[in-house]
Amino acid sequence: MQITKFAIPEVIFGNGSIQFLASCAQRLGAKRVLLVSDKGIEESGWVALIREILESAKLDCIYFDELTANPRDRQIQQGAKLYRDSRADVIIGLGGGSPIDASKGIATIVSNGGNIHDYEGANRIIHPLPPMIFIPTTAGSGSDVSQYAIITDEKRQVKMSIISRSLVPNISIIDPDLLVTKSRELILSSAVDALAHAVESYVSRLASPFTESQALTAIRLIAGNIKPAANSKNREALKNLSIASTAAGMSFSNAGLGVGHALAHSLGGRYDVTHGMALPILLPAVIRFNQPSCERKMATIAHAIYESCPAPVSDRKKSLSDTLYNLFEELGIPMQMRKIVPDNSHMEEICKLAVQDACSVPNPKEATWQDLYQICSEAW
Ligand SMILES: [Fe+2]
Repeated sequence: MQITKFAIPEVIFGNGSIQFLASCAQRLGAKRVLLVSDKGIEESGWVALIREILESAKLDCIYFDELTANPRDRQIQQGAKLYRDSRADVIIGLGGGSPIDASKGIATIVSNGGNIHDYEGANRIIHPLPPMIFIPTTAGSGSDVSQYAIITDEKRQVKMSIISRSLVPNISIIDPDLLVTKSRELILSSAVDALAHAVESYVSRLASPFTESQALTAIRLIAGNIKPAANSKNREALKNLSIASTAAGMSFSNAGLGVGHALAHSLGGRYDVTHGMALPILLPAVIRFNQPSCERKMATIAHAIYESCPAPVSDRKKSLSDTLYNLFEELGIPMQMRKIVPDNSHMEEICKLAVQDACSVPNPKEATWQDLYQICSEAW
């Protein structure tokens, strides 16, 4: 067997686990924390709750929320300045992928200096980062356990992938109670993002037995729980999506992703569309492209889905790409790229950028920009 690595944070999981935040921060030596979140989370009341928990333990809290849905390079510099000026000692990221990725970017700059662009790509962070605690408020990005941060370069209009073991936080506190304030759309797009993490990392060239078992667990849980979680916010289903998102995060963090995410990053950089919007559209065509290079693994994924989400016998004869397409369409997800981007005039440029994205490297089948163009044409 090839030598493999599996880096994950300490995970504190369960309904009500947020109550352990202050003791976790104190364990990491906190006196004054930088809390990174955004306006949406603030409106749902979670920022106030976190501040209350920290203040009741006599921890100072500096708050940073100058963030857009996809965090930008300039926002990272602003956050790093606030961390330094306020002499904070621990970073807490609260939110979906954006505040957590921003926290990773801020931590990188305060300990390594320079500009966030200096760290684009794999393994470019040299010095240890300040202690980090992440609290996800969606079940999807997996950023709270992963070695990845995605930051938008405003000038180049691309999403930079920053990949380093240093970006794995000290502690991830995953409390499924935080999901109940999310809209149906957000629950769905997050779950689809997690499913894409699981599928892409399961067939990745860097997959190992440690990541494959996590990916299959995630696929089964998402197939079995996506409908009740989105349609009725069933508490048990939301908890299972949280477990799935964490498992998929552990898998992709260590096995990497594929061309679906590479294209989602390029599309997101150009048009500011989120992962969760782009991935269900791309995934069926990406699976068709990859299928010949990993037939057995694709069959295992299809079996895991059928096993967890009972389908009529006739559906079992459908290909994995058709099964996913039907599942997403049934859930009311827009399934044509033309519905989420204004025109296709930049498609060649988007595909050329995606080929260079770090996520393309472990894709099971080597892809040229023309292959990616074909995937986009099928998804158009
Ligand atoms: Fe993703």
